[in-house]
Amino acid sequence: MKNIGFLFDLDGVIVDTAKYHFLAWKKTANKLNINFTQEHNELLKGVSRVASLEILLGIDNVKISEEEKQQILVDKNEDYLEYIGKMTAKEILPGVIMILDFLEKNNIKYALGSASKNAPFILKKVGLYERFSAIVDGNDVSKAKPDPEVFFIGAKKINVKPEKCVVFEDAIAGIDAANAAKMISIGVGDKATLNKADYVFGSLSEISESFMEKLVEETLKK
Ligand code: BG6
Ligand code: MG
Repeated sequence: MKNIGFLFDLDGVIVDTAKYHFLAWKKTANKLNINFTQEHNELLKGVSRVASLEILLGIDNVKISEEEKQQILVDKNEDYLEYIGKMTAKEILPGVIMILDFLEKNNIKYALGSASKNAPFILKKVGLYERFSAIVDGNDVSKAKPDPEVFFIGAKKINVKPEKCVVFEDAIAGIDAANAAKMISIGVGDKATLNKADYVFGSLSEISESFMEKLVEETLKK
């Protein structure tokens, strides 16, 4: 095994679950008479479930009790689980399998670093659970991204020094977390939005084997 590691965010990097979060939050918003749009949904990327609800309520400055909030979080997740329960390997985003195959072929360990408490369930649904050496999810962290905790735990779990890790992320908070951990950050998405990343690709399918080789060299030299 090489003493470098790769860490992957889940939602927006491995699978596109933002559409399911949107449908579940939309149902919540309708019940509360909040005008929740796709643009608002963008603000929830990389944000924890609890923080997402606060953002949703903030759209129309809706005030509800702590008890109601707890019930909404349970209901929202039940709706979300219905969607993700139907996921299959077909929903793995283009480019993911090539990258995981490359890492395995080159004896490089990789782990998941996600804010989602549903991460293990989703990975099992799409058939990738067994391939990850370690999984760090929303249940394991006390500080949300942009705090680097999730990636520090991931690096520790695969026994690699943080500075010897590469992170794939689609959210600004995730790129900030990777940079704070002194890891090489790869943004997946819009170049202007993710401009603090060391490298940005519109999609993982744009990443070539030769780029991966270069990345490995760069990480080994750090
Ligand atoms: C992140 C998503 O990965 O997980 C967020 O980008 C989501 O949109 C967060 O709110 C928490 O997910 P879950 O599955 O625990 O509700
Ligand atoms: Mg994400």
